[in-house]
Amino acid sequence: MFLDMRNITKTFDALKALDNVSLQVCESEIHGLLGENGAGKSTLMNILAGAFPPTFGEIYLNGKKQENMTTHKANELGIRFIHQELNLVNDLKVYENLFLGEELTGAFGLLNKKQMIKKSAEVFKRMNIDIDPQEKVENLDTSRKQLVEIAKALLFESKLIIMDEPTTALTNKEIENLFVIMRSLKAEGVSIIYISHKMPELFQICDRYTVLRDGKLIESGNFSDIDEKKAAELLVGRSIIEDNKQDQGLVGEVILKVESLSCGAAFTNINFQLRKGEVLAITGLHGDGRGELAEALFGARPVSEGHISVNNKPLSLNSIDKVMKAGIGMVPRNRKERSIIKDMSIMDNMSMAHFIRNKTLLIKKYEAVERYNRNKKAIAIKAGSPDDNITSLSGGNQQKVIIARWLEIDSDIYILDNPTQGIDVGAKFEIYRIIYDLAKKGKSIIVFSAEFPEIYKVADRCLVMYKGQINAELTRDEITEVNVMYYATGSNMEGIR
Ligand SMILES: Nc1ncnc2c1ncn2[C@@H]1O[C@H](COP(=O)(O)OP(=O)(O)O)[C@@H](O)[C@H]1O
Ligand SMILES: [Mg+2]
Repeated sequence: MFLDMRNITKTFDALKALDNVSLQVCESEIHGLLGENGAGKSTLMNILAGAFPPTFGEIYLNGKKQENMTTHKANELGIRFIHQELNLVNDLKVYENLFLGEELTGAFGLLNKKQMIKKSAEVFKRMNIDIDPQEKVENLDTSRKQLVEIAKALLFESKLIIMDEPTTALTNKEIENLFVIMRSLKAEGVSIIYISHKMPELFQICDRYTVLRDGKLIESGNFSDIDEKKAAELLVGRSIIEDNKQDQGLVGEVILKVESLSCGAAFTNINFQLRKGEVLAITGLHGDGRGELAEALFGARPVSEGHISVNNKPLSLNSIDKVMKAGIGMVPRNRKERSIIKDMSIMDNMSMAHFIRNKTLLIKKYEAVERYNRNKKAIAIKAGSPDDNITSLSGGNQQKVIIARWLEIDSDIYILDNPTQGIDVGAKFEIYRIIYDLAKKGKSIIVFSAEFPEIYKVADRCLVMYKGQINAELTRDEITEVNVMYYATGSNMEGIR
């Protein structure tokens, strides 16, 4: 037994985040730590990594009791923590971030820049990704930032690596690369604690699991002894009724027409139509131009060519304001960076689109409270007081607040970019439910997503992008994982690359 955490309890003021939780991890084991948001996973890992002490409980490494753990001490013991939040400094270069606080020095204590750059390049090579160590972090997109976070842990020799939802922003190919590295670390005797909401990943890479719920240990065991349905049940503590996509029946007339839309190198010649009551998924892999297309459709990225019309009226894409007025609402990807306003209350975050559309920051409190209560009930947001800060909510509930923001101004078209990124299974299902309900009411929805199970669940039709173009249009019956992957990887394009 490499790691033995015994009877860990942690209270934050009145809140019991962990209640008598134990966790054992062997050498060379990849251990999946599962639990819905707020279950206590990060808290347990923070205790292990020395961020703060447990209220009660003991930690043993190789049978030796560890006391007064600090981050520094944990690092020295070979424990590395890849955090869920991106902890990079945007103004610094990639290699400076990698070595932050642990800079290599040469003669006279001078920073050994050359060595640090070289080591950084080696790690990226090992990870099979091309990130320039001298690039400024602010120039990287989220998936690359996440890869830099991972690289940070691989730079130093370690015995135990904690990965707290490392793949939320990664494409399938990047995830595959990560798994290759994880397997080689495992072969070298390194233990890994892997936190993820993605069942296929967990089943693919992990040996054993531990499930937490509401700060309590539910069960530990071998992945080979359970299936995905059982795991989901352990997570939520009730059986999930298979909630497959119902046939939506006929969809209505064309509401959105996109013609020959291009945007520099990001995407070219995009053509599609969206009908009333239709859920259209747009998917692809890293570098497919999907994210840029989502932004362009919302007027947040200038296009170089093409037209778009809503209800047969041409729409100029150069202003978010006009796009909103034409009846398009958008839930952007990366909730943390793009949609939530961290210093604002839940209620004000919810009212944001209303403020913008009505060009007012004059908040009528009673209206805002009414808006809050209406939405809280309609889409089951779990929150305390409307005046609480948005960051007090779990990820799933934050996302619902952002969705409520747009439901409130009653758009005809909703563009949801990665709507369930980093949120737990239960909340995902609730968001799918919101999507079905919108479609049933005749709203049209475009879901940008790279998660196949999600696409399969919600989509009436699916566009698969490859290198900035629509490579395939799949009807409901054609949406299979193999099909999506085939077109997303450009497998049909051989010979003309
Ligand atoms: N520093 C903190 N102060 C107060 N409460 C916290 C703190 N960190 C976590 N919590 C609370 O502890 C519970 C468990 O959180 P966390 O460990 O982050 O869950 P998970 O990582 O499983 O989503 C949540 O209710 C969360 O709000
Ligand atoms: Mg967490």
